[in-house]
This record gives sequence, C-alpha cells and structure tokens, in this order.
Amino acid sequence: MTTWSRIVGTGGYLPANLVSNEELAKKLDTSDEWIRARTGIRQRHIADPKQGSSDLALEAARIALESAGMKASDIELIIVATSTPDFIFPSTACLLQDKLGAKGCPAFDIQAVCSGFVYGLTIADKFIRSGQYRSALVVGAEVFSRIIDWQDRSTAVLFGDGAGAVVLKADSMPGLMASVVHADGSQSGILSVPGNVCGGKVIGSPFLQMEGQSVFKFAVRVLEESGREVLAQCGLQPSDIDWLIPHQANVRILEATAKRLGIDPSKVIVTVDQHANTSAASVPLALNCAIRDGRVRSGQKVLLQAVGGGFTWGAVLVQM
Ligand code: UT7
Repeated sequence: MTTWSRIVGTGGYLPANLVSNEELAKKLDTSDEWIRARTGIRQRHIADPKQGSSDLALEAARIALESAGMKASDIELIIVATSTPDFIFPSTACLLQDKLGAKGCPAFDIQAVCSGFVYGLTIADKFIRSGQYRSALVVGAEVFSRIIDWQDRSTAVLFGDGAGAVVLKADSMPGLMASVVHADGSQSGILSVPGNVCGGKVIGSPFLQMEGQSVFKFAVRVLEESGREVLAQCGLQPSDIDWLIPHQANVRILEATAKRLGIDPSKVIVTVDQHANTSAASVPLALNCAIRDGRVRSGQKVLLQAVGGGFTWGAVLVQM
C-alpha cells in the first residue's frame, strides 16, 4: 500500500510589534501610497530584539502540534527553513527541538531563502513516503528585520518577521500529491546578503541587496513554470485548483502569477498586505491564515509556491 504524507495541523505566529507604512514614512523617504501601489503591503510585524527565529518557530510549532492533536514527542523529524538563524550553529531546528522539550529525532535547517519552506516540505514528504518516519514538523521562521538596512527605502518597506508551521503525518491517502524544487545559482547576485563572519568581523555586507525588477520578472516566470510542472505531474489543470498560495512578496507578483496560470484572482490567498514578505515563513503563514478563517477546507486542492534567493523555487500540490 502506498504511503503518503498529509498536513494534519498548521500554526502561525506574528510578533506583537505592528509597524504601518505611515510609521516607516516618518523615518524614510517613502509613502503609504507608494508602498501600497507598488507592493500591496500595508503593515509588517517586527520581532522584539530578544526574540530569535527559534522563538517565533516555537510559537508556530506549538499551535501546529495542538491543531494536529499531537505532542512534541510524537514528532519524528524536525525541519526549519530559515535564512535568519539564531546562530551560525547549532541549527535553529536543534534549538527548536530543545524548546519543544523533544529529544532524539533528527532536526536540521534548510537554507533556500524564501523557498525554504517548500524545500523543507518536499524533503519531509520524501522521508515519510519512504516509510522512514511517520510524522514531521516543518517550520518556516524568519527575523528578516535583522538583515535589512533600515535606511534603504528600496528594501526596508518590503519585509516582516514571523513563523509558520505544519505537521505532516503518514496516511494511506494523499496528502502531498506532488512537488518540484529547482535552483539556478547563476542568479545569486540579484538577491543576496553577501556577508560573512570571519575573525570576529563582518566581511562584506550584512544587509539584504536586491535588483527589484530582475527579481520580479524571474519570480513571475518560475512561479508559472513550477505551477504548471507540478500540475502536469498529477494530470491536473489550473482550473482543478481550489486555492493558490504563492510566496507572499508583492501582490503584483501574485496577481501576475495567477493570470499567467489562468487561475481566478478570487482563488489566490493574499497575506502580503498584512504580513509583508516574511521569506520562508510566508507560505505556511498564509496557509494557516486561510485554514483558520475557513477558506481552505478538508478535501480541497491547494497549490503552494515559492521563489527566493539562490535563486531557488518550487511548488507543492496538496490535497487538504
Ligand atoms: O522574496 C523575493 C524578494 N523580493 C521580491 O520579490 C521583490 C520583487 N520586486 C518588486 O517587488 C518590485 O520590483 C519593487 C517593489 C521592489 C519595486 O517596485 P518597482 O515598480 O519595480 O519600482 P522601481 O524599482 O522601478 O522603482 C521606481 C521608483 C524609483 O524612482 P525613480 O528612479 O523612478 O525616480 C525608486 O527610486 O520608485 C523609487 N522607490 C521608492 N519610492 C518611494 C523605490 N523604493 C521606494 C520606496 N518609496 N520605498
């Protein structure tokens, strides 16, 4: 009998500090009108300086476990997708495991920037489908506010902090129907934090740098391609999808992707207006929101999509 993985619980966490566009406009040469018109973003949550990605991950993971009716000790694999880990090492996944009070199961981080959650979900699915593990916790957690140059209006307005989590369980029914992941390292220069720590100093830049328009064009192209690829694997058409949940970077990217795929805009889950771009946390946060507000329901088909630095991208088709 085929083993599939199913999403049996989701959780999300957003730090309490809510920063509006107007507040940013007091410190930067920008405006609420510009930010809303070019990105759709209205606000973002910013973590307290004492909170690391593992703290945000813990809150989201607890909610996901509760909604799955499971304890941390029931989890056989922990994957955390983050580009803003608490430390160089140990991994944020190991810190999360300890904070959850679990021990012994494998725990590791994925570094695929905004695509990290889709990469992590794909890996966890393979472990479950192979029969090696019966359950997995996959978390996207980020404090991008720490790697933003708050003087740079072209990037500072775009990002926020948060965490989203899902619990996967082995099942005789799908579940994760198909997934694809890709990368093109030749595009590493258009979105990067080109810094390193060496001999106690930061070498290079510790701040996010981006060629906005190149990223925009690349993102729309690969989101369409990977969406079609994963649908083709299942012999489905875009019209068979109940909900499209793309990486939440810019509402114009979401709209363009839906248009290219021929998916009605009413089927696109949008949280970028509320959360801004939370990198690896954006897709699980959006999924969690849409489950909690009753839009995404059991039995529906949901196309999760991500694209980010590397460049990396991917898509997962899920039957809820
Ligand atoms: O997770 C993936 C990461 N990133 C993305 O997906 C982002 C992809 N790119 C984008 O979303 C868009 O390219 C941006 C939102 C970053 C920029 O929008 P755009 O429509 O491509 O604007 P632009 O870069 O062409 O800039 C237009 C103008 C420029 O002024 P001039 O040269 O026309 O005088 C910018 O200097 O807007 C100016 N500008 C701003 N003005 C007010 C740039 N940032 C701001 C700002 N406020 N925050």
